[in-house]
Amino acid sequence: MTRSEYKRRRRSLASLIGADGLAILPAAREAVRNRDVHYPFRQDSDFNYLTGFPEPDAFAVIAPKRKEGAFVLFCRPRDEEREQWDGARIGIEGATARFGADQAHPLSELDEVMPTLIEGRKRLYFPIGTDPALDARVIGWVNQVRAKARSGAIAPDTFVTIESLLHEQRLHKSQAEIAIMRRAARISAQAHGRLMRSSRPGLSEADLEAEFQHACASQGARFLAYPTIVGGGPNACVLHYTENADTLREGDLVLIDAGCELEGYASDITRTFPVNGRFTPPQRAVYELVLEAQLAAIKKARPGCRWNEPHEAAVRVLTKGLIGLGILEGKVGALIKDEAHKPYYMHRTGHWLGMDVHDVGAYKRDGDWRRLEPGMVLTVEPGLYLADTEAVPAPYRGIGIRIEDDVLITEEGHEILSAAAPKDPDAIEALMAG
Ligand code: GLY
Ligand code: MN
Ligand code: MN
Repeated sequence: MTRSEYKRRRRSLASLIGADGLAILPAAREAVRNRDVHYPFRQDSDFNYLTGFPEPDAFAVIAPKRKEGAFVLFCRPRDEEREQWDGARIGIEGATARFGADQAHPLSELDEVMPTLIEGRKRLYFPIGTDPALDARVIGWVNQVRAKARSGAIAPDTFVTIESLLHEQRLHKSQAEIAIMRRAARISAQAHGRLMRSSRPGLSEADLEAEFQHACASQGARFLAYPTIVGGGPNACVLHYTENADTLREGDLVLIDAGCELEGYASDITRTFPVNGRFTPPQRAVYELVLEAQLAAIKKARPGCRWNEPHEAAVRVLTKGLIGLGILEGKVGALIKDEAHKPYYMHRTGHWLGMDVHDVGAYKRDGDWRRLEPGMVLTVEPGLYLADTEAVPAPYRGIGIRIEDDVLITEEGHEILSAAAPKDPDAIEALMAG
């Protein structure tokens, strides 16, 4: 991502908050896993979106129309000894020289400098309610300004969650963002293809998990966007199955929901295929039904359609299909109205995709599902989860299938970013046989 892209984003936020507003955004903090071990650091998506600054222990301030410049960054100073242990730091000079901050201060000056930035502003934008310590700290800074009211200091009287502005901005992807998301989805899609080629009975679910990670890391995407799900056989019916500890068995399907993160952007793909490379007839029947539902949903992923139209299209196909399989009984219309699909399809058909796998952005506007617009990216991921129970005819028991693609809304319709992962059942069988 270029420096000018971050600058454009900050300008666009600045114009929304106005000359009498001020935005404060904290970086993510390192989290302890156990004793001296930390979780891998992941920058806060909002902070990253506006700054591209990759370190913890930092604060960004956007102060529109400030004469010394609108972008102020607080961060860790250089420290020879710490850098010997933990690696290079960007430091105060790096913050201005490399990240476009108009001014930078060491984090230790935060409580001293922040009230001077807040003074004179009417509205304060920050992530209200995400961290009680941050809420208290911001109010502390505001109170320092209030204490000077008799000498004419103006303190903010309006507090607004910054998410309402920033998340609408993040929902509409720029060309630069789309280019990264296209690459992320392609890396993941090719990794899914590789898993199909290496699958065989006797491998463990963890073998495929590890192979996915390897395939992505070797293409430049070292981190995944979320924990990989590899569910063999009935494990596929557990929606967030991440134990990945069982052995893959002859005659079973395996469901793999996995996606890499590339330069801060997620991909999110699910494929389900036979462990041994050949669908049994009942597996193929359910697979073709889920695929038909997914294709019907993708047709409704185009400008002007409302958010829920892909979901409604998928539910219609699945409901009809469940009657065909002898799992539901009755009239399609009434079954849809009663949500009879829910024991077998209990999640929705997708979500926004971006820096976060379940990305930000409102789904409704003024009470109605919003319309899709070019530049939005969503997943389309219907499934069927036919548990090993009496209600399910014997041949279908224990079959869990989901097919998930990443879809960019374009002027003409859509682009399937994850198209490189095979999903046609004949194509999967051919790939696995080859
Ligand atoms: N992998 C999470 C999801 O599909 O929503
Ligand atoms: Mn997924
Ligand atoms: Mn998803």
